[in-house]
Amino acid sequence: MTDRSIHDDNTGNGDDADDPTPYPDATSASDATSAVDPTPGVTATAAPPRTVEPTPDPAAVAGTDGPMDMAGRGEVDLDLHDSGFHERRVAEWARLRETCPVAWNRRHDGYWMVAGHEEVGIAARDGATFSSRYEPEPVDGIDYIGIVGVPRPKRVPKAGIAEVEGPVHLALRRAMNPFMVPRATQELEPLMRRVATWFLDQKIASGAMDLVEDFATPVPSVLTMALVGLPLGDWKRWADLFHGALAHDPAGDAARQTRANLPAMFAQLDEIARDRRANPRDDLATALITMDADGEVLSDDDVRAVLWNLIGGGLDTTASLTSLSLHHLGAHPDQRARLAAEPALLPLATEEFLRFFSVNETLSRTVTCPATLGGRHLSAGDPLVLSWASANRDAAVFDRPDEVVIDRERNPHLAFGVGPHRCIGMHIARTMFQIMVREVLDRIPDYVVDEEATAFYRPNPEVVGMVRMPVTFTPGARIGPPDPPW
Ligand code: HEM
Repeated sequence: MTDRSIHDDNTGNGDDADDPTPYPDATSASDATSAVDPTPGVTATAAPPRTVEPTPDPAAVAGTDGPMDMAGRGEVDLDLHDSGFHERRVAEWARLRETCPVAWNRRHDGYWMVAGHEEVGIAARDGATFSSRYEPEPVDGIDYIGIVGVPRPKRVPKAGIAEVEGPVHLALRRAMNPFMVPRATQELEPLMRRVATWFLDQKIASGAMDLVEDFATPVPSVLTMALVGLPLGDWKRWADLFHGALAHDPAGDAARQTRANLPAMFAQLDEIARDRRANPRDDLATALITMDADGEVLSDDDVRAVLWNLIGGGLDTTASLTSLSLHHLGAHPDQRARLAAEPALLPLATEEFLRFFSVNETLSRTVTCPATLGGRHLSAGDPLVLSWASANRDAAVFDRPDEVVIDRERNPHLAFGVGPHRCIGMHIARTMFQIMVREVLDRIPDYVVDEEATAFYRPNPEVVGMVRMPVTFTPGARIGPPDPPW
């Protein structure tokens, strides 16, 4: 392991500090330099050699979609959007990791698939060489595709933080960080608890609920409203939009209906920017409109894009992590009983669920200049898909990678990414997850999942999550106030 990997160990040492720097971990802070001062290929070529070298064994990586040519770039022909591939993806990415951790996929005019923990980490830390930028028109002859996959799905607006690089990105992190660090998260905790209690209270007397729709989705949605400055009671239409877009067919009626609300929702965000210019407060939206973005102030459109990115980042990810973890605990009563009896284990279990489920499985980048990664030569303009999920199953880093080990001590997972774009909401996500899991284990510990009625997101390469998880349990009493916490 390199020093970096040790530093990035998610065991609560180091990266959980109440960090006033714009990046939540010191490694990322040093990466900020490379983000503004591109040194072509340096980080990539300076990588320590991987212990498992690419092996020219076509059969090992053939996949069912086509043969593999290991001669030049380790070519594969894999359709990540195919539901068959989605079902086999754990095994397919494992084969890539073992034989060719950076492989050229011929699909969609070609792109690199980055599978190994080390290679994913190198690319993610070096934003100057492996850029997150999205530019609808090519710049310097390079078509910057952004982070949302290859090919970039139509109609996805530019993410106001995640698809911005350089000094403006740095300034954004600096402005937002005070509202996301552990101290700020602690201040949100009482609201998190009230909201979690409220949603469980609504169902607990009946002995039945849907853990996704009635609990894991609404709780983070309300908290995201609070963070962004939207009325808390509006949570449902935002949840319907973001959750619906991922859970359901984007061409279906439900998705069409929620899209019809878009103009009104954009207007709500614009109103926040207008209001804070007139009435500044001590909140994140005010920090955005008053920040110095590399000598300029953000326009209302920029503020909207940042708030949109925050809502998109915050709303569904924590819901998915919570749903999938509760689903797992439903099927593993021994682990459920142990977590209920030993609440002190929850922080380690949180990191393990983050690693194992990697609810944001992959994201994309664009190569900005000739570079070397995993022994492969990459050209300027090449797209890459980084798989956090694959990195998090790398046997070179994790013992028993395909098992949920709820007391795993050393867990340098990349579920929140790493480097300059590492998840700015990670402290909020961890705390919210733990509050929700505790609420369920304390109050409905004997819940039984109706597996037949349970449904997962439609297959897609970027995110996983759940649509429905009906459960039954021994009815209990309400414990919170009769009025909603908004
Ligand atoms: C289980 C929960 C979560 C997971 C697994 C997750 C995952 C990630 C990942 C992998 C990235 C890195 C993106 C990249 O490198 O391109 C990221 C970035 C980001 N996340 Fe999260 N996230 C979670 C929760 C949250 C929450 C609760 C918020 C907001 C409250 C949030 C807001 C963001 C934002 C704004 C970024 C972009 C940061 C930047 O580009 O500088 N996320 N997240």
